[in-house]
Amino acid sequence: MARLTEPVLEISQAVAGYGDLDILHGIDLQVAGGVWTTIIGANGAGKSTLLKLIAGNLPCRSGRLRFEGRDVTASSSVDRLRQGIGLVPQGRCNFPMLSVAENLRLGMFTRRLGRAQKQDELAAMAERFPLFKQRWATLAGNLSGGEQQLLEMAMVLLAKPRLMLLDEPSLGLSPKAMAQVFEVIRELTSAGLSVLMVEQNAQQALAQCDRAVVLELGQVRLTGAAREVLDHPQIRQHLLGL
Ligand SMILES: Nc1ncnc2c1ncn2[C@@H]1O[C@H](COP(=O)(O)OP(=O)(O)OP(=O)(O)O)[C@@H](O)[C@H]1O
Ligand SMILES: [Mg+2]
Repeated sequence: MARLTEPVLEISQAVAGYGDLDILHGIDLQVAGGVWTTIIGANGAGKSTLLKLIAGNLPCRSGRLRFEGRDVTASSSVDRLRQGIGLVPQGRCNFPMLSVAENLRLGMFTRRLGRAQKQDELAAMAERFPLFKQRWATLAGNLSGGEQQLLEMAMVLLAKPRLMLLDEPSLGLSPKAMAQVFEVIRELTSAGLSVLMVEQNAQQALAQCDRAVVLELGQVRLTGAAREVLDHPQIRQHLLGL
């Protein structure tokens, strides 16, 4: 496990895009271990593209990615998940016609666990997320939006990541559900998990997270302590509308 002062993820000069188009134009970024970092930026800035690149869902056209000191540039997404990088993508991403328990079991697909161990893992997850206790057999699609977001986080947590990537976890959630999601993220980082999150509700996110990254037109414009970025006059005016 990386020491808290060491970057868990180092991206250097990474270029990625779709078809003939480059979207990320040479990203240089270090993500600190054990802290909660939020990426903000306008629609289309490349935030989701950056998370896809880190998770291995999109090839790195040039440049490098290192996770906990190991080069993962050429690793597949499943390899990266096994190595400890878990992505909760943008939008609903559970299996709505499967039960809560079935969805959670799918979250363990990269791990070689026996039946009893899987049962223990599910029981432990229900301690962290008590809502699952009464809902093992409920179809995921019948959970509320906030409950589905927690389910998706739990699915990824069951792969035992050390870096969790979250793409707009508060999308479509009530303020109360968003607060609950952010509370869980804080608990997870307090327990040592590194979190890199993209968030549209920038003001709320920056008020709670540790570090911030501002992405603009596929490049890192600014990185810093969340509080400093929140107080940055230009960021306040152009991105936060304050
Ligand atoms: N699969 C794709 N094929 C082609 N172009 C894409 C694809 N996905 C995204 N793009 C383009 O890449 C650019 C960056 O998209 P991306 O989804 O990374 O932005 P974003 O910062 O996450 O925006 P938002 O805040 O709206 O989620 C956009 O111009 C988008 O149209
Ligand atoms: Mg996006």
